[in-house]
Amino acid sequence: MAAGSDNTTETPSKADANMQWGGRFAGGPSQIMQAINASIGFDKAMWRQDIAGSLAHAAMLAHTGIISKEDEATIRNGLNSIGQDIEAGNFEFSEALEDIHMNIEARLSDRIGEAGKRLHTARSRNDQVATDFRLWVRDAIDGLDQQVASLMRALAQRAETHASDPMPGFTHLQTAQPVTFGHHLMAYVEMLARDRGRLADTRKRLNECPLGSAALAGTSFPIDRKMTAGLLGFDRPTANSLDSVSDRDFALEYLSALSIMAMHLSRLAEEIVIWCSSPFSFIRLSDAFTTGSSIMPQKRNPDAAELVRAKTGRITGSLVSLLTVMKGLPLAYAKDMQEDKEPVFAATDAAALSLAACDGMIRDMTANTAQMRALAGSGYSTATDIADWLVRVLKTPFRTAHHVTGRLVAKAEAKGVDLAELTLAEMQEEEPGITQDIYSVLTVEASIASRTSEGGTAGSNVQREARKWLDLLNTPTDKA
Ligand code: ARG
Repeated sequence: MAAGSDNTTETPSKADANMQWGGRFAGGPSQIMQAINASIGFDKAMWRQDIAGSLAHAAMLAHTGIISKEDEATIRNGLNSIGQDIEAGNFEFSEALEDIHMNIEARLSDRIGEAGKRLHTARSRNDQVATDFRLWVRDAIDGLDQQVASLMRALAQRAETHASDPMPGFTHLQTAQPVTFGHHLMAYVEMLARDRGRLADTRKRLNECPLGSAALAGTSFPIDRKMTAGLLGFDRPTANSLDSVSDRDFALEYLSALSIMAMHLSRLAEEIVIWCSSPFSFIRLSDAFTTGSSIMPQKRNPDAAELVRAKTGRITGSLVSLLTVMKGLPLAYAKDMQEDKEPVFAATDAAALSLAACDGMIRDMTANTAQMRALAGSGYSTATDIADWLVRVLKTPFRTAHHVTGRLVAKAEAKGVDLAELTLAEMQEEEPGITQDIYSVLTVEASIASRTSEGGTAGSNVQREARKWLDLLNTPTDKA
């Protein structure tokens, strides 16, 4: 809306006053007030949670005798029919009614009359929105958890297939030591397992019910908070009414967990971009996960991976956004907190799409094992194995062995050959004790097979780890 438009000069009349809270108002809000105040444009996404919360609240009000059983039945039918209408797309949301809570409550009163007007007894939108939002985040965690598990499964399956297939391992993106492609993929399984753990922790801590805290101070009605908490699947009611309506830690923890996960996905995405770049050619993405160029017919662009890498910005931005909204807010509720939802919704969409894209790319990619094997031996990647041989066989101190090996690498480099192509005489010029046996550790395969230390890259280790995770991810006790 342009500043200085007609809307700013319009004088609202009593007839425009909010039908839910307009009793003490002589006029309605200006268009600009309505535009900045309304959240219905985004919080309608919480309609299921709002109806669930109201059904539980009404059941409790009837159980405690605060409203009659008949009113509760009428409310229940009314809320269920509103739910059906929203589901079917037959519900007209009104900006004048601000948010999802008042849209549903006002429609309920329109439909069922007096009973509908009793629903808000012993409740405030402050505890209502805190409850709805917790329910929404809880549902989102459950959905994302399944997606993370699916991606872990995809990675572990590919890892099992490529448990012993060599690839160059990098540090500083310089060839370092040979590893297996399976080992590299399993590194992401570990990261994602921690992400799942963080989401599970968040879920555990958020699973307390704010409903019944009312506006900020609790209520004089004889409510049963344990009952509503139980009906909504919460572990218990929250303990302090002021904290209950002003706490958004659950959303912040959730966004923190998503930010760390997005950082992981972005690293995977970046590796995919590198791996399918032609100088590397470690993998080929399927047609389903590549796009073409409008000018260069040969191009196969990894756009999905690039966008996963980029969506991290949106997710981390959401965390920073909500932290900034919350800092410095005095207790208890303040309208600032209405700005909590869009970042959470946006981060959830971005995370879900990123997980799905990674899942698809990992499942569909073709590994170019010959190319990875060829490059695994380049860049003197088995130099450490020479040093280790000197330590193990000649009892040379490691630091000395490191220097000797450095001279061998320099010699090979000067000749333009691999370490294995140096003659025994050339090696003995640097260390007379070297024997023919040293050549047995210079192959990529020998280097990999020797790394059997716990967590090391030996194919047998990778095979075992991949199996362990595949079994874990398929056990019936697993939530996925
Ligand atoms: N739409 C509001 C929000 O999301 C609901 C709570 C409004 N409470 C109030 N006292 N105005 O925060």
